[in-house]
Amino acid sequence: MPEIQWTNDLDTGIPVIDKQHRRLVEYINQLDHARTHHSRDEVNSVLDQLVDYTLSHFAFEESLMEDAGYPFLNAHKRVHALFVKRIADYQQRFKVGEDIGAELQVSLTTWLLNHIKNDDDDYADDVKRALGGATEETGGWVARSIKKFFG
Ligand SMILES: [Fe+2]
Ligand SMILES: [Fe+2]
Repeated sequence: MPEIQWTNDLDTGIPVIDKQHRRLVEYINQLDHARTHHSRDEVNSVLDQLVDYTLSHFAFEESLMEDAGYPFLNAHKRVHALFVKRIADYQQRFKVGEDIGAELQVSLTTWLLNHIKNDDDDYADDVKRALGGATEETGGWVARSIKKFFG
């Protein structure tokens, strides 16, 4: 599968979120590389990091949406939970030795790009308004939340 290239339609316009989404895309590209060029150990390690980062990103995002009073928070949380379950299933299958190969790659890529372009894009205006231009660099709530969810 070709590497995912970042395109403008993936930008939500919220720098802290776009940075995390780019990181997720990087992990998926790394996974593809590990799968085609390296060992199972490396796939295992990238998969662990991807799951970990995804959980932190979802928690961070949910907290932003909650703070912004985004009306579809619960639906969005359910979509996140379903994805977490799906990726945990793949991880489990991989750990017991199944060759999940390209199926995992296709599924992750399709889901993530679709989620960013549609579901995440949907909260962008509300969250932007709530943040009022605050960024990671300006400290305050965004910086504290990053510490809280990403350690
Ligand atoms: Fe999301
Ligand atoms: Fe997201």
